[in-house]
Amino acid sequence: MITGKGITKTFKQRGSVLAGRTVQALRGVDFAIPKGGAASFIGESGCGKTTLGRIIAGLETFDQGQITIGDTDLTSLPEKARQPHFRRIQMIHQDPYSALNPTRTIHQTLHAPLKLRAKQTGRDGRWMDERAAEVLALVGLDPGSVLSRYPHQLSGGMRQRVVIARALTVDPEMLVADEAVSMIDVSLRLGILALLKQLREQLGVSVLFITHDVATARYIGDDGELYVIYRGQVVERGAVDTVIADPVHPYTQSLLSAIPVLHGLEQPGSQPVVPVEALDASQETGGCLFAGRCPFRQDRCEGELPVLRLSDGLPQEHACFFPERRDVIARPLSEV
Ligand SMILES: Nc1ncnc2c1ncn2[C@@H]1O[C@H](COP(=O)(O)OP(=O)(O)O)[C@@H](O)[C@H]1O
Ligand code: SF4
Ligand SMILES: [Mg+2]
Repeated sequence: MITGKGITKTFKQRGSVLAGRTVQALRGVDFAIPKGGAASFIGESGCGKTTLGRIIAGLETFDQGQITIGDTDLTSLPEKARQPHFRRIQMIHQDPYSALNPTRTIHQTLHAPLKLRAKQTGRDGRWMDERAAEVLALVGLDPGSVLSRYPHQLSGGMRQRVVIARALTVDPEMLVADEAVSMIDVSLRLGILALLKQLREQLGVSVLFITHDVATARYIGDDGELYVIYRGQVVERGAVDTVIADPVHPYTQSLLSAIPVLHGLEQPGSQPVVPVEALDASQETGGCLFAGRCPFRQDRCEGELPVLRLSDGLPQEHACFFPERRDVIARPLSEV
């Protein structure tokens, strides 16, 4: 189990116009991802998804909060002592082109982390070769034909598989996949998503999926939890199917209302939610972070920040004073 409590992160802006201004990237985020489980973080660009993923993977510091891996509270350890624990969490970046060194064959790419692992565990060169072949087979690649190749000789989908194989060399407990399919050919995306799902089942590795796309969030974690993030705050959290089929936070509803409808095949929901204004991340009123854009805003929303909680007998947590089910999801015409 990997848990986070109250994770807060502020960035100082750079650049001449923004210099000195701060951005509150994360505002007290809690999460819990069970061993072998799945969670998806969704939200629009700039909401803090990558920052949270990087913090979980140990690649970014945080201002306040607590992260626990298994029984180890990382926050209680000195910075240096945290690193071996973070090895248990590996990040898969969105761009498989820049993630691999173009001057190294796949054999060389896999052998760098394996060498370290062999040294730590007292294993020899033969083990390294066997393990390289094993991780490639796990991600559905033929070691015989791939090991001697360079990244440019592989397709984007194959490269992303190599990136995942490299992460597996260190026996991670969790993979953090940040927009892992967004730069891959559409025809190859489903294969990568299916692979991540298969690795969960086969190896018991948990997967944290970060995406701006509701459809992919659903695919990877249909038995897991969905976290909807808005301006650094989790505004809705629950079982993926519940949140997608029956969202109650107006922001989640606006995300789902924005999914294009297949003309002639689907009928749009009867109560689509459209934000009344564009996102203005500089607006800090002390009230609900979505208040400036929310069509359902009331007086209370302006001066008080709703916290994530269970209420009104709803199955999911939400950060809204007036949660309400609305018909926002398109339905196939055949079911209407
Ligand atoms: N290294 C950084 N320096 C300054 N601001 C940053 C840095 N990284 C992220 N931010 C800011 O933090 C916010 C969240 O960014 P990010 O986590 O990348 O969002 P997302 O992945 O959801 O698009 C944004 O406003 C972004 O500009
Ligand atoms: S608290 Fe108010 S402004 Fe915020 S999402 Fe709910 S109804 Fe809208
Ligand atoms: Mg991002």
